[in-house]
Amino acid sequence: MMSRAEVSARVRAVMARMTLAEKIGQLSMLADGLVETGPPGPHNPFTMILEGRVGSLLNVWGRDLIREAQRKAVEESRLGVPLFFGLDVVHGHRSIHPVPLGEACAFDRELWEQTARDSAIEAVSDGIHMTFAPMIDVARDIRWGRIVECAGEDPYVNAEFARARVRGYQAADAEGFMRLAACAKHFCAYGAVLAGRDYAEADVSERTLHEVYLPPFKAAVEESVAAIMPAFVDVAGVAMTAHEKLMRGLLRTQWGFDGLIVSDYNAVSELMNHGVAADLAEAAALALHAGVDIDMMSEAFPQGLPVALERGAVSLEQIDDAVARVLAFKERMGLFDDPYRGIGVDISAGRAARRALSREAARRSIVLLRNEDAMLPLRAKSIALIGPMADAPEDQLGAWASAGAGAESITIVEGLRQGLAGAHVSFARGCAFTAPIDGGVDDAVMGARDADAVVLCIGEDRLSTGEAASRTKPEIPAAQLDLARAVYAAGKPVVLVLCVSRPLVLPDWLVDGARALLIGWHAGSEMGPALADILSGAFNPSARLCVSWPTTTGQTPVFFGMRPTGRPHDPNNGWSTGFLDAPYAPRFSFGEGIGYAHFTRGNLRLDEATINRHAVTTLRVDVTNVSEVPGVETLFLFARDPVAQVTRPLLELKDFTKVALAPGKTTQVSFSLRASDFSYLDSELQPRLDNGVIRLFVGASARASDLDCIELTIADGPREA
Ligand code: BGC
Repeated sequence: MMSRAEVSARVRAVMARMTLAEKIGQLSMLADGLVETGPPGPHNPFTMILEGRVGSLLNVWGRDLIREAQRKAVEESRLGVPLFFGLDVVHGHRSIHPVPLGEACAFDRELWEQTARDSAIEAVSDGIHMTFAPMIDVARDIRWGRIVECAGEDPYVNAEFARARVRGYQAADAEGFMRLAACAKHFCAYGAVLAGRDYAEADVSERTLHEVYLPPFKAAVEESVAAIMPAFVDVAGVAMTAHEKLMRGLLRTQWGFDGLIVSDYNAVSELMNHGVAADLAEAAALALHAGVDIDMMSEAFPQGLPVALERGAVSLEQIDDAVARVLAFKERMGLFDDPYRGIGVDISAGRAARRALSREAARRSIVLLRNEDAMLPLRAKSIALIGPMADAPEDQLGAWASAGAGAESITIVEGLRQGLAGAHVSFARGCAFTAPIDGGVDDAVMGARDADAVVLCIGEDRLSTGEAASRTKPEIPAAQLDLARAVYAAGKPVVLVLCVSRPLVLPDWLVDGARALLIGWHAGSEMGPALADILSGAFNPSARLCVSWPTTTGQTPVFFGMRPTGRPHDPNNGWSTGFLDAPYAPRFSFGEGIGYAHFTRGNLRLDEATINRHAVTTLRVDVTNVSEVPGVETLFLFARDPVAQVTRPLLELKDFTKVALAPGKTTQVSFSLRASDFSYLDSELQPRLDNGVIRLFVGASARASDLDCIELTIADGPREA
């Protein structure tokens, strides 16, 4: 419950004048359809605004419409309470950045924060107050289309991503108000949906909830995230929208989260489909009890809450508590003082800088996985650019393009023609995303024959990814594979650029036949110039995979943080864990990625090899750029607790950092460690720290061959002063 002291006199005064319908209105969020196309009806949002029966709107498009809706609320509704407006500003608003799964590969907290700040500036000037982001569902299943929205397979990376994004979106504006309220989603375990099938159940142990799915949300709460959205799914049989234990209990009481809980789209009514509510009143009561303040787009609060109140299933205090929270949010956003805050502010002066940041984000997100015979940077004077993704202005924007327009994208063909000015770049589409085009393959092959090198851009269109885009065969469509096969047969060296929003299963021949391999993602408005920067050598690639890349769908989920088995994988022992028909390891591991420079590591050391349970120490390693070009190396710090009361992951990511080094230079990289970093949840899920050895691994990826190991001992000792 919000304490009286937290509710301002202004909010109390407004609430004192509200009818029940107006109170429930504040708890109702409606979508679009604002333009009146017929006589105003009971569900026409403008009518609802006038009657005070809606408190916030989502996905409303256009400054004029937003201004008009706000004007109606403030000037024509009885109490004049301002609305707030929400939108999915997930990876950019007008200047579109790489999809989150791509940008996470930059492993750059500052970048994650800056791109969020730029998105906020653009969204606010379009009248938006809340973004339904960051999406921080740890995801390990490539069948699930929504894997694109998160920061990959690891809880620590998603937690760091959450912190940076929340800081970036919510950074104060010139007047000191929170710029754009972040709504972290989807609380929680949505990434664990059965078979990767969207909206399905998630049957997750309490341990996995606490170790994997909850830490990113804890991080968002620690950064004072303004709102949280429960997931559509049920977790071990309890629908998240009605999960009192996790929302009211853990989130509100234990973690002290006092922001808004906004349901997902129609999720409160859908409690009936989950089979836990018999009617709208029961659904509304369950959600309100669990802590939901705002019902997004369902009839449950508007129709069900009055009935629930009559039945005594909810109390007026509970409704008041949610209303106070919504009004307090509006007050914190400055909307009572200036309901039109930010709308239409001229931000054109910063546009070029924001586009430059999109380009920077894109080039720092594109992962180079192979570069045989130093194929890149490209020296070829004549290049055949081939593939449907090379000229796909809409698709390169990715799944949540917000106000991003294809007309404002710089495509790969445009980018390469500008950025590889010394070379002749021919272009042949070759095929459509999922179908051949007449003569397409022949044209492409002709182009390849005439060129010194091929840049082949294939992948998936943006509608194949995102929400409700689960796939049992997350693969490159056959038409594109046919194109690739024919182009490879032309015999020219191929740079393969995979433009995808999730790891797709790749045939061996496709990978083996490429001289260079890049994961280009759907990299946003500036994908063309960013790729050109990498191909030309103007930018030295520095991204690393934030997700393991399976060899086959059947290997899913595969991730570095698996727990050990009693029969560890041993290729020479048929009775060890693994598959008969697929390798044990993923095709590419978490952290894989190279650049044009080469680095060595040495002299891994700890300031103290033994520390007491309350102490800190520092791990240090020397990194040398042994190449002739400047470059950026990424270092990951993993830990393994080899003997504990419960099984511990084979590797746990504890930190990551990037270091820029001139040719021939060496630098010392350090990670500070607390003994308490190695505590874990015991068999009763209580925190426990054992005496004993922790293995620390430092290196360039989660592959064993990329890691150096050192042991830290934790021992009893006096508590430090
Ligand atoms: C999605 C949310 C999104 C909401 C509003 C839902 O379908 O699950 O992630 O924020 O729609 O667009």
